[in-house]
Amino acid sequence: MEAQVLESMEAQALERKAERDRELRERLMQLKKERNAIILAHYYQRDEIQEVADFRGDSFLLAQKAATTDADVIVFCGVHFMGESAKILAYDKTVLVPDERAGCPMADMVNVEGLRELKRKHPNAAVVTYINSSAEVKAETDICCTSSNAVKIIQSIDADEIIWVPDKNLGHYVSQFTDKKMIIWEGYCNTHDMLTVKDVLEMKAKYPNARFVAHPECRPEVLKLADFIGSTTAIIKYCRESDHDEFIVGTEDGTGYQLRKDSPHKKFHFASRFLVCPNMKVNNLKKLVRCLETMRPQIYVPPHIAERARISLERMLQVAGG
Ligand code: 13P
Ligand code: SF4
Repeated sequence: MEAQVLESMEAQALERKAERDRELRERLMQLKKERNAIILAHYYQRDEIQEVADFRGDSFLLAQKAATTDADVIVFCGVHFMGESAKILAYDKTVLVPDERAGCPMADMVNVEGLRELKRKHPNAAVVTYINSSAEVKAETDICCTSSNAVKIIQSIDADEIIWVPDKNLGHYVSQFTDKKMIIWEGYCNTHDMLTVKDVLEMKAKYPNARFVAHPECRPEVLKLADFIGSTTAIIKYCRESDHDEFIVGTEDGTGYQLRKDSPHKKFHFASRFLVCPNMKVNNLKKLVRCLETMRPQIYVPPHIAERARISLERMLQVAGG
């Protein structure tokens, strides 16, 4: 087929998608009003979701938002543990997710039995759990944290020993900010852990004037190369406020939406083309509209689990300035 014909077919397909998306956005606005709903979106969501969200944020900001909203319905566009945390913090609200299959492999790397076993071995240790975990694991936890407040949380611990679950890379990073003994679980994020020193050095050679910013879920040897380390919100803020105008970004590619929105004149190069979380991308605009239409799938956390998990999340909000 001729190149011109192909181009015109592509243009028509794009136009049809734009028209469908316009209709979906209109329907969404209508439903949001009818249901008195709020849409929260993590920075790793597809652009088409971030565009229509009431709030975009990292896992900490979104947990804070869920805990304080007046809306009757929270639509959480992120992965399952985020919806669960919202439900735990706002138990009387209906919490919807566009697709319940959006899980987090790191959260699945620790289970209650394993954590209880570790608690038996270290009875005097405090348990600090990354928010990327199940409600059941949070229920076995003293205090939760996110990547934006992990250092602050770890420094608030009184006990001499800390059991840290599930992210070994974030655990290694925060261990540099405490002299307490840390017992670190061997979990990791499939997406961030994939980034290698070789990837970063290649990018640095290609863009010698760029600053390298990285999420603490990356490996320790990768973090050593970073000019700035922080949560997605912290990375976005750093790039916005920095005098530099070119960055190599060591976190999930959805962050590009907010980076480019805040600083359209700056250049952002993602450190690897594999920095894409397939779980986050399971959600899309169509599923978002459908979940508000059908009020399904809803997040359910048994009350006895929610009650105990809430204590560890509320402690985090208190210590980290909730
Ligand atoms: P933050 O939202 O805390 O930056 O964490 C990133 C992440 O991997 C969420 O799943
Ligand atoms: Fe989980 Fe990593 Fe995806 Fe975050 S980016 S949801 S930690 S797999």
